[in-house]
Amino acid sequence: MCERHTKQKIYNGEVMKIALGADHGGYEMKNVVASYLKERGYTVLDYGTFSDESVDYPAYGVAVGEAVVNGDAELGVALCGSGIGIAIAANKVSGVRAATAHNVTSARLARVHNNANVLCLGARLLSDATILEALQSWLEASFEPTGRHQRRVQQLDAL
Ligand code: RB5
Repeated sequence: MCERHTKQKIYNGEVMKIALGADHGGYEMKNVVASYLKERGYTVLDYGTFSDESVDYPAYGVAVGEAVVNGDAELGVALCGSGIGIAIAANKVSGVRAATAHNVTSARLARVHNNANVLCLGARLLSDATILEALQSWLEASFEPTGRHQRRVQQLDAL
């Protein structure tokens, strides 16, 4: 394993924490994502689900969203079959900007334009490789805090 993958990701002097959650549709991919993140130096806070038994996605989306908003984690990643239901749930938490991404570009734009603090992915619609590439693209991108994007995100946060 190369050093780039083992070096801890530091945020505000601490290892960066990512809240992770999924329903049964995203359970297997959640484990893949957790390993991927840990190998790259993030601390992963796993909010379940912990088996492939059928569960309801709202609780998992909310758990990830709350972890981000209350400061337990800096960012969140949530998976379900489509990446849609769990995003709707996460977005019910005030302060969450959850975005469903389908590829590298939508994941990057979710960060650069929308400052998405939760990335949602559809484990039944996307290949494992696409999910990991999209995740990496989102993690490497930064919000562009200039004029129009700043203004629009402020408007979102005021809703
Ligand atoms: C579960 O069957 C499925 O509905 C869920 O994972 C997700 O796709 C909902 O948006």
